[in-house]
Amino acid sequence: MKHAPILAPSILSADFGKLGEDIRAVEKAGAQYLHIDVMDGLFVPSISFGMPVIKSIRKETELFFDVHLMIVDPLRYIEDFAASGADGITFHLEAAKDPGAVIEKIRACGKKVGISVKPGTEFSEVIPFLDRVDMLLIMTVEPGFGGQKYIEAMTDKIRAAREYIDAHDLPVLIEVDGGIGTGTAQTAAQAGAEVLVAGSAVFGGNVCAKAKELIALL
Ligand code: DX5
Ligand code: ZN
Repeated sequence: MKHAPILAPSILSADFGKLGEDIRAVEKAGAQYLHIDVMDGLFVPSISFGMPVIKSIRKETELFFDVHLMIVDPLRYIEDFAASGADGITFHLEAAKDPGAVIEKIRACGKKVGISVKPGTEFSEVIPFLDRVDMLLIMTVEPGFGGQKYIEAMTDKIRAAREYIDAHDLPVLIEVDGGIGTGTAQTAAQAGAEVLVAGSAVFGGNVCAKAKELIALL
């Protein structure tokens, strides 16, 4: 069953000089999740931020902290991210030596479990783990940077995931990340996505107004 759409603004595109203010603006606009991209310079070329930043913003908001780990061997850091204030932790199937062990570790920390696939990874590869996770994150750009263009071919992957999850009656949310904005949010939501990450489409300019505009489209 499809869940009512949720907007998850990604702070990767926020102004870190006024991060607390920007977060309160998206909360006020009605966003329910805050998407937090952690990059290690290995799994993806870029480096973003880690536990201390998450810990600081935890004091600013009640939003669901949707932590997206773009790091190699994520098992090493699950406890640290859980302790920093994450509500859900998503790791990449491609980055984990033993995805089942990562899932168990996130559960043992009492957090929601997400598993993510890059654009080049077939949906069929993640199927064996879907009965153990709360969320499937389908990357709609190559992970690593904000502001890229939505890969149209990913709409079919979203549809395939929606069909599978519904057919097997699994309590798994479908999240999409990358290139989501006024032109693509509806496409992804209509294909079956429930959690829509948006970075550059929300941050910069009037953050509250932009978030509201996107929520109204969903
Ligand atoms: C990309 C990140 C995204 C990024 C999305 O690797 O995972 O969460 O912030 O940025 P936009 O919405 O600008 O494509
Ligand atoms: Zn992300």
